[in-house]
Amino acid sequence: MLCGVQGSGKSTFAKALAEQLDLVMVATDAIRQELTGEYGGFVASQTRQVLRLAKERVRSGLAVPERVVVYDATNATVPARRPFVLLAREQGAAVAAGYFETPLAVALARVRRRRGQARVPLHAVRQTYERFVVPSAAEGFDWVFDASGIDVETCARTLQGLAAGRAAPQD
Ligand SMILES: Nc1ncnc2c1ncn2[C@@H]1O[C@H](COP(=O)(O)OP(=O)(O)O)[C@@H](O)[C@H]1O
Ligand SMILES: [Mg+2]
Repeated sequence: MLCGVQGSGKSTFAKALAEQLDLVMVATDAIRQELTGEYGGFVASQTRQVLRLAKERVRSGLAVPERVVVYDATNATVPARRPFVLLAREQGAAVAAGYFETPLAVALARVRRRRGQARVPLHAVRQTYERFVVPSAAEGFDWVFDASGIDVETCARTLQGLAAGRAAPQD
């Protein structure tokens, strides 16, 4: 699970991981786009359907033995993350959280540079930033890592190990 505000670099990191290992990508922005033709919307009525589909896809991804599933969404709060931690646990899968502590100004500047629908409202970025809570092992994660400070190959290797039932790194 990747956690970070809009513009923190989650999808870029997810893409880099996908070049390193065979994974199933589940991204709420992509699902929202499939459903509505809009990227990164903030319409509450769409959220439940997006989340339902995200859960379905995570579940079916985890049904494949040793498959790494990357869940790319802001995942900013404990309540937002909890259903996915539980879902992974139910499936007997290990679950890791990679977080980005990107400064607000950096995230805003990146989002401002986007064009078209990817340019989400800046107030939404600020709102996510204010609510953001760094994930903790106490939430049930086997591994919590700073995604902005990790080498993508090391990360990919560790995720593959977790998916194969190996222990998480100690730190
Ligand atoms: N580590 C990084 N250093 C500099 N720019 C980055 C980095 N990661 C992502 N970016 C840039 O920031 C922007 C937002 O990244 P993105 O991965 O789409 O963020 P998110 O998925 O969290 O919204 C993109 O233009 C991307 O090229
Ligand atoms: Mg993204």
